[in-house]
Amino acid sequence: MKTEILKLLQSSTESVSGQEICNRFSVSRTAVWKVINQLKEEGYCIEAVQNKGYRIISAPDILTEAEIASRLKTDWAGSTLSCKEETDSTNTDCKKLAEQGALHGLLCTADTQIAGRGRRGRTWESPKGTSISMTLLLRPEIKPDQAPQLTLVMALAIARAVSRLCSETCSIKWPNDILLNNKKICGILTEMSAEMDYVHYVVIGCGINVNQDFVPMELEQIATSIKMETGTRNQRSELIAEILQDFEQLYQQFLSSGDLSSFVEEYDNYLVNRGRVVRVLDPKGEFEGEALGISPNGELFVKTAAGETVKVYAGEVSVRGIYGYV
Ligand code: BTN
Repeated sequence: MKTEILKLLQSSTESVSGQEICNRFSVSRTAVWKVINQLKEEGYCIEAVQNKGYRIISAPDILTEAEIASRLKTDWAGSTLSCKEETDSTNTDCKKLAEQGALHGLLCTADTQIAGRGRRGRTWESPKGTSISMTLLLRPEIKPDQAPQLTLVMALAIARAVSRLCSETCSIKWPNDILLNNKKICGILTEMSAEMDYVHYVVIGCGINVNQDFVPMELEQIATSIKMETGTRNQRSELIAEILQDFEQLYQQFLSSGDLSSFVEEYDNYLVNRGRVVRVLDPKGEFEGEALGISPNGELFVKTAAGETVKVYAGEVSVRGIYGYV
């Protein structure tokens, strides 16, 4: 009921009368009063005017189930929420819940992670109160080799949502870093449980630097936050809701076509690698070339100095001019 009341108050610019809340949710005046007090304790600034009702003046930047649920506009993404103040890793939480039978669409979040994981065994910092650490559980009917494409679907959803919300166009460094002004604001770690030909589940973990005022000195050249680039604070729950809405739409398109073909062009428009020299750290040997764009299956097309176009499936790609590669 707390979520419903919060949603009602957040969607209304006018005051909502206590009686209307009681009628709408079939609850007593005392129950409404208790919820309002709980919300105030959590940091919501709620105006209560006699004969008019309640109006939210401001909401705290917190990641509780009620706060996130009250912002969601999705059908299934985030339909179940598990929100913690602190955890090891939201990917680990999400995988544990998946093993216990959690449903497609579960979203795990944490205000901070103490053992956040990045790609290739790296660590990931998730400062308390300013970053987003979230992991979405999917149970897609796809082949295991299609799962990496879901990372690109999420990357595009985040690029879209951040660009829209911040009025500043971000870019994507293939396959899954989101950048603002050529510095990383977001990384994605996708993990899967599968058999040879059957996917049990996929978890897509996203770490987003939202409201940090600084990044550790050793990362200054390569990482930043949305606030550091735009000067504006963003409500993290709102950004999560926007991302999930975009993801749901893109995921539907992905399932319908079985690949990324319906948004290759859009992804390429965000692609920082496009038309630039990239160094591909291929297990068979490094090579340089010009990145051309992605294939419908999410591989990166790279034109080598010999004029040959090769597809890069996975791996590290450095882009000249980005993250200190000169
Ligand atoms: C990378 O760029 O290396 C990927 C970083 C992914 C970090 C996110 S934060 C939420 C989720 N939980 C984790 O432990 N990792 C991902």
